[in-house]
Amino acid sequence: MAGCLAPRLNKKGKNKTHRQGWIEKIECASLMKILFLNGPNLNLLGRREPKIYGHKTLKDIEATVKKRAKQLGCIVDFHQSNHEGDLVNWIQDAQDNYDVIVINAAAYTHTSVALRDAIAAVGIPAIEIHLSNVHSREEFRHRSLIAPVCCGQISGFGAFSYVLGLEAAVNVIECIK
Ligand code: DQA
Repeated sequence: MAGCLAPRLNKKGKNKTHRQGWIEKIECASLMKILFLNGPNLNLLGRREPKIYGHKTLKDIEATVKKRAKQLGCIVDFHQSNHEGDLVNWIQDAQDNYDVIVINAAAYTHTSVALRDAIAAVGIPAIEIHLSNVHSREEFRHRSLIAPVCCGQISGFGAFSYVLGLEAAVNVIECIK
């Protein structure tokens, strides 16, 4: 939760805490901008270990999330990269452009101090998601380096984890009350 409350400058240059900024917006989901980030190998969804990750491609998932976002009236952008630095850059660039980050960091979940530091640095509320239930899998997947700087974790609902991530994002104010 610490990552959610860092101060930032609003567009007019006035000092405003991030919390104040998005409390104003979040009362109305239609004003929210939500960034979905996807880590390594998620570009292979659909043909990658479908017994674990399902048959939907990342494009299919993106379309489903965008459909729900349209109903909610919020704006969603999707990115995927196999490179840690791209994900760090997108998190940094989100600072003045998005209200919430929903992140499936994939394997970097379990290894990346850089992603954790980036999420903590920008102070935008982040929600960690996974298709598979990482806690029911190999032990090395039980540990998430980003979990302590995220508002919460959604894991194990397949492609629906992304929709749940969106629902959590539009209700993220609940996590800081
Ligand atoms: C994953 C789980 C990770 O452990 C794994 O490295 C992935 C996908 C998931 O969505 O279930 O690549 O994040």
